[in-house]
Amino acid sequence: MSKSVTRQANANIALVKYWGKRGAASLNLPAVGSLSVTLDGLATTTTVSLDQSLTADVYVRAGRERPEEGRRASAFLDRLRDASGTKDFCRIETDNNFPTAAGLASSASGFAALTLAASELFELGLDDRALSQWARQGSGSAGRSIFGGFVLQHRGEREDGEDCFAEQLRPASHWPLKVLVGVTDARQKATGSSDGMRQTAESSPYFQAWQAGQPADLAAAREAIEARDFDALASITEQSCLKMHATAMAANPGVIYWNAATLELIEAVRDLRQKGHGACFTIDAGPQVKVVCQPEAAAAADDMLRAHPGVAEVISCDLREEAS
Ligand code: DP6
Repeated sequence: MSKSVTRQANANIALVKYWGKRGAASLNLPAVGSLSVTLDGLATTTTVSLDQSLTADVYVRAGRERPEEGRRASAFLDRLRDASGTKDFCRIETDNNFPTAAGLASSASGFAALTLAASELFELGLDDRALSQWARQGSGSAGRSIFGGFVLQHRGEREDGEDCFAEQLRPASHWPLKVLVGVTDARQKATGSSDGMRQTAESSPYFQAWQAGQPADLAAAREAIEARDFDALASITEQSCLKMHATAMAANPGVIYWNAATLELIEAVRDLRQKGHGACFTIDAGPQVKVVCQPEAAAAADDMLRAHPGVAEVISCDLREEAS
């Protein structure tokens, strides 16, 4: 009989971005720390089953076998298998309730759910900190999805990654912000985050400056969250996003994730804020615009997004209180 475990994890959106790696590629250590909020509503559900009859892992997403995507999951499982002494191959069945790989953090919720399910299946007995370290090895943003609320991913200094982990700073109830995702293009992105980061680190003249500014940005964001100071949080969130993208755009060849609607929405969100609504934007490795807002500003932000001809879909999220 095969044994299986099903676990769910939620996406997160970075307010202070992770972009770039350090040290041994196998550990997937970030060049910078980052700070995020975990979102209710955008979730990945993953079942991992041990199956002694298999001669390789089988990866099924949304009901279809996808060997290409499965390779990364399988390489990650190999390391968990090594840690647990398990030799058996697995069947991995996973599904997102949102568009995959379009800058909607599917790798974060995906690797967090896979870490939770597989580590339990392999009986590794990991605490949250260790879970975040494993999830990070799968995808740098995934360690943050182990927690709910406001989450800090430490950069760490050590080459072995021991001091590189995520932790919850504050629960969602501390400051129940909302995040609206304006989907401008749900197709798979052309340049994945890992490739975009490599290209940036190798050739962007701004990469050093990007890294040097991160500790101050993280401190400013933490202070804004502590004080529930929306203007301060908006300012650091937008600047971190624009710095990340400017650094990536200055690579050779330039890494550009935006489309025309992305740029128009940046302007529209700034317009909202000028009219007194507590809303700011952030953008990940894709053209979608995420509007982080105070609850009272959510209706105006939602109206703005829905009225925009470049927005195909609006996904509205609360912050997630607890991890799954
Ligand atoms: C722009 O976590 O997808 O969303 O570690 O290579 O898997 P890998 O990268 P990934 O990068 C996320 C980058 C980002 C910013 C962020 O979430 O902090």
